Amino acid sequence: MCGIVGYIGKEEKKSFLLNGLKELEYRGYDSAGIAVLKECEIQAYKATGKLENLANKTSNFTSEDFGIGIGHTRWATHGKPTEINAHPHWGEYSYVVHNGIIENYREIKENLQAQGIKFLSQTDTEVIIHQFEKYLNEGVEIHEAFTKTVSMLHGAYAILIITKKAPDTIFFAKNAVPLIVGKNDKGEKFLASADSPLIGYATDVVYLEDGEYGWLNKEDINLFKKGEKQSIFYKKLKEDKLCAQKEGYRFFMEKEIYEQSSVASETLMGRVKDSSIALDELEGFDFGQINEIKICACGTSYHAALTSAYLFERLSKIKTNIEIASEFRYKEPLLDTKTLFIVISQSGETADTLEALKMAKNSGMKTLAICNVDNSSIVRLADTTILTRAGIEKGVASTKAFATQILTLWMLSLYIGDKKGSLDKETLKSEVKALAHIPSVLHVKDSQHEKIRRLSKRYLHGHGFFYIGRDIFYPLALEGALKLKEISYLHAEGYPAGEMKHGPIALADSELFTIALMPKNTLYDKTKSNVEELSARDATILAISPYEFELADDFIKTSLQEHPMSEFFEMMLITQLLALEIAVRLGNDVDMPRNLAKSVTVE
Ligand code: F6R
Repeated sequence: MCGIVGYIGKEEKKSFLLNGLKELEYRGYDSAGIAVLKECEIQAYKATGKLENLANKTSNFTSEDFGIGIGHTRWATHGKPTEINAHPHWGEYSYVVHNGIIENYREIKENLQAQGIKFLSQTDTEVIIHQFEKYLNEGVEIHEAFTKTVSMLHGAYAILIITKKAPDTIFFAKNAVPLIVGKNDKGEKFLASADSPLIGYATDVVYLEDGEYGWLNKEDINLFKKGEKQSIFYKKLKEDKLCAQKEGYRFFMEKEIYEQSSVASETLMGRVKDSSIALDELEGFDFGQINEIKICACGTSYHAALTSAYLFERLSKIKTNIEIASEFRYKEPLLDTKTLFIVISQSGETADTLEALKMAKNSGMKTLAICNVDNSSIVRLADTTILTRAGIEKGVASTKAFATQILTLWMLSLYIGDKKGSLDKETLKSEVKALAHIPSVLHVKDSQHEKIRRLSKRYLHGHGFFYIGRDIFYPLALEGALKLKEISYLHAEGYPAGEMKHGPIALADSELFTIALMPKNTLYDKTKSNVEELSARDATILAISPYEFELADDFIKTSLQEHPMSEFFEMMLITQLLALEIAVRLGNDVDMPRNLAKSVTVE
């Protein structure tokens, strides 16, 4: 996820901007840049890779006395992580940094290009600065030009603009991604995506709300929403940096669980249209040539793959095989060029998945990566990539990466179904509607989290956990069990609910904990019978369902969702929170569990 900073004042601008970006490193980035405006001169620097590269480029640059500056770390979503695509982006005399995604950038860009305006980058961001300057060049008053520009933008954004036409002012706007304004009693003003860059500089801060925009100079801040001037309420800034990076959560994993609603919106943005799916990454791809899909992945990404097989076969009507990458490599698989080969990886560096991809490429198969990290080894090797846009994931136990992988695969199954003509328009429309509903399903409800926290104390012992479910809830059961074992070190297995009676039920007694996923929309009665069989053998049952279940020892009630995938995501949240709360009670290091690494680059 990108990070932004801004500064107005007399001190060395470069140091606040670079230090501030350093504090935002935890959000992940692949390039960075700054622009400083002083005495009507703007100096801008950009570099790919680590911030040290930007620091080296700016080593001879100083900017004391009054001036203003903006800075940015970029996590690529539109266009490769190159210097051209790094922020700031500029027009003739103005510079912009932007965090988020401008959903309607294509329309704005085409309109500006038709009027002869040239674009340098592949980003969605560049439209902002050209549109702003277009208004200015037409003689629109500067504040009006900014307001009009912001009102054209759809999507998620935190934006900062500086321009030679107003050399003491930073223009800003915020919607759906964070932006904070800070000040101190030395007359300095600051802007940042999070608290941590401001600590040690600002004393008082305003957390902007969605839809707010305005301009800031050394004297004051003008804040608006829907054309109405807003009152400004400063708060005292907290002073603990690590806590600020975790944005008030106890662990990065917890923060990432809570972030899932907003990253899901980013994953869908610009891709979910009124009644269709747009995947620009696949433009020109001939699905008529493909009669099968094979997916390779590891761990959590493998569970996403397993879930997607149900979607590809049901919605795209295409035969789908899923393989664990480390098994695939040595089985001497029969590969066919009419099979689309998909790899799924959060990091893009997993050795087994990368090697599987190499095998597929060598056999002449068409390859597609579903990945969270642009420019990673897997992305560089695959023919095409769809980025999942989850932002950096710091917790070793994957949460938001899984959610965004599932969403991406669901979109892909609809896209392929539509292209192949195997999905009727009515179903497509209702699936698209269901997809758009997921960000709201992913909001964590305080009452539910609290209930899970209280329940967790009963699940700290026993001789094991069985997570059971059917259909797409079977891979979710696998994933729930994986989350628990990774961070609690308790033995947990995921099982298809209907398979328990073929052996594992022998383990059932009161010390066997069964986490039963009992959705209303998918095989409820069948799953219920399977859980009853376990209950009859005295297993302790924690039922997760919208329907009360009289045999449950514990019960977490979910909402009456209309679509199985909404139930899937709601239950996913519950299993993640349950694992988290059990691990917290056991006193484990949730973000860095023993024996595990975030990126597994060895066999
Ligand atoms: C589990 C987890 C791992 C990864 C696996 C693959 O929480 O994070 O199981 O899913 O190591 O990693 P990627 O997706 O980076 O290829």
